Amino acid sequence: MRIVPTVAAMQKLARRWKRAGGKIGFVPTMGYLHDGHLSLVREARKRVGKSGVVVVSIYVNPTQFAPTEDLSKYPRDLQRDLKMCRGEGVDVVFTPGDAEIYPGKAEGKYSTYVVEENLGRVMEGAARPVHFRGVTTVVAKLFNIVLPDVSVFGQKDFQQAAIIQRMTRDLNFPVQIIVAPTRREADGLAMSSRNKYLDAEQRAQAVILFHALQAAKTAVAKKFVSAAKLKQDLREFLTAAPLARLDYVEFFDPETLQPVAQVKRGTHMALAVFFGKTRLIDNSQL
Ligand code: PAJ
Repeated sequence: MRIVPTVAAMQKLARRWKRAGGKIGFVPTMGYLHDGHLSLVREARKRVGKSGVVVVSIYVNPTQFAPTEDLSKYPRDLQRDLKMCRGEGVDVVFTPGDAEIYPGKAEGKYSTYVVEENLGRVMEGAARPVHFRGVTTVVAKLFNIVLPDVSVFGQKDFQQAAIIQRMTRDLNFPVQIIVAPTRREADGLAMSSRNKYLDAEQRAQAVILFHALQAAKTAVAKKFVSAAKLKQDLREFLTAAPLARLDYVEFFDPETLQPVAQVKRGTHMALAVFFGKTRLIDNSQL
């Protein structure tokens, strides 16, 4: 497994594989890997086959964090991540620093961003105003550096995946985007690097996000329910976890991400819940 820290070396490698005809599968991450990330790596391997290469990037992207968010505290453990990548047969881990990805930024000389202007306005985009601009910018840059044929994203971040798909189409990146299912802990909590922030009591209550999705599924299994009524019911449901503070719960069309007034089977639900300073998200089709 190669560890490549510079843009120039990564691009050179990628061009060489392309010339040799090998397919490149790519999984962008911010590290502190868990089995959710590794499931994307396995999917990438499946897509490119034995003759292809799988690239994982590990880069905690500062532009997708607001000044008040957890950038400096975001968990990092490169040695552990590298070991996990080796275990999965990853070919290359791209580990750039900030000066590689945002040249000139420290001196105020970095000024180009990629903005998706529709799907990014709601939910996570409304709650975290600079977030998706940072995500689309870094993913566009990573596509230009890694030159992937296929790139795999998790449904865990449903809105992010939708925005990346839209950006890829709108900007004509020759990349196939795959969205892979959410991996969960045994009790149903979606795996996330941020779960590490939870203390024992918060961790025990965090499964309420998953239970809220299940409760909503049951509620709409046989009938239409108004979104307002279901939101009210879920607010009540969440009081079973006294440490949980609801940020938002939304019911929306999975294509447009626009909210719906009537919830039925097949409608998509997403929610964000704070436990102390830790913000967890989850989503599912109902
Ligand atoms: P990160 O949070 O590290 O997630 C990297 C990828 O793993 C994303 O596509 C995310 O949806 C996926 N993922 C996270 N938890 C998962 C789970 N439980 N099951 C399946 N997949 C899961 O998302 C980012 O990083 C960044 O925004 C990034 C795209 C790398 C841009 O900086």
